[in-house]
Amino acid sequence: MDLFFLSLSRIIPCITNDATGRSSNKRSRADRPRLHDLAPQRTDLRLGRIVRLLMENATVVVSGTKIADEIGTSRSEVWRLAQQLRTLGVEIAGHPATGYQLKSVPDLLLPDMLAPGLKGTIFGADVHRTYHHYYKIGSTNVEAMESASAGAPEGSVFVAEEQTAGRGRGAHQWESAPSAGIYCSAVLRPALPPSEALVLSLAAGLAVHSAVEQIDSRVLPDLKWPNDLLLNGKKFCGILTEMNAEATRVRHIVVGIGINVNQTTFPAELQPIATSLRLVSGTEWSRVELCAALLKSVDREYRYMLEQPGAHESILRRFQERSSTARGRRVRVEENGGFEGVTEGLDPRGFLQVRTAEGLRTVLSGTVILK
Ligand code: BTN
Repeated sequence: MDLFFLSLSRIIPCITNDATGRSSNKRSRADRPRLHDLAPQRTDLRLGRIVRLLMENATVVVSGTKIADEIGTSRSEVWRLAQQLRTLGVEIAGHPATGYQLKSVPDLLLPDMLAPGLKGTIFGADVHRTYHHYYKIGSTNVEAMESASAGAPEGSVFVAEEQTAGRGRGAHQWESAPSAGIYCSAVLRPALPPSEALVLSLAAGLAVHSAVEQIDSRVLPDLKWPNDLLLNGKKFCGILTEMNAEATRVRHIVVGIGINVNQTTFPAELQPIATSLRLVSGTEWSRVELCAALLKSVDREYRYMLEQPGAHESILRRFQERSSTARGRRVRVEENGGFEGVTEGLDPRGFLQVRTAEGLRTVLSGTVILK
């Protein structure tokens, strides 16, 4: 059987907005952590259940015995789990003798925090089985691709508080500071030919756009083909879409989305090109709220693409409407020795077209730098 194992980064070129051709949040391979740092530990589901229990009883102190009974463990184990939550930044007052109380609502992307917002979506059918949360992982995309190959169902989602080897397009790393951003990879199994993966990837950009706008309508991202989202000319979101396909049919696609949410600073090399929602809006964002809006929005765009006639064309049109650079922008394309020209919209397959002195060219791979 013909089996393709593709990263769309190899077939989808990327646009960057700095002279070096780097896109924001990217670091070289040399900076990457070693493999032994990367063993992923799925979060103990009982942590989320304790947080939810304390949230449901926010005005009272909840006894260790009650918590122990609710989650089916001992009081000493509850103490150990409470300590673990504290090390993760959750503010819990109390101890086994007095009981426990939350001092503030934690903004952790735990399954129990997301579940109410995911009802009715492909991500919400069986959250405790399909929503995988990690405090620290190498890359949610790597984990999602491996799980998908091992049979993870459509709608499985892999979310981390921190990535130690977050992957960007090309040979770059995605800077993934603990609990500051959203690092999330979704497994999809669309009955589509591999050629539609680019449009699905563009639809993911639209999904991020509408999720952000829904939370704060004053923040209007600019889509940069194929998969970046910018604010004030700096990147706050990148999408890495990877695919496992046969010649005529997709087996699975992993859409990996990295959003800079509450970062207040970036490593020096990223400062000229990266930003966060917090830096732009001046306020802290709820990652739980944004992550739920994002997954709902991905679900909406995905179903639309699969079910609605004319969806392909609508995605291309809406993408171009929300992109200030898809048309009329001078670019340099690092492909076939490099060429310069002015962007002239997307072709019917979703590839960027560039008008050069020699005629209209289609960008198939390589980096596109905004001039
Ligand atoms: C890019 O712009 O280069 C794409 C960045 C994609 C980053 C996200 S973070 C979640 C998922 N896991 C990864 O390792 N990468 C993607």
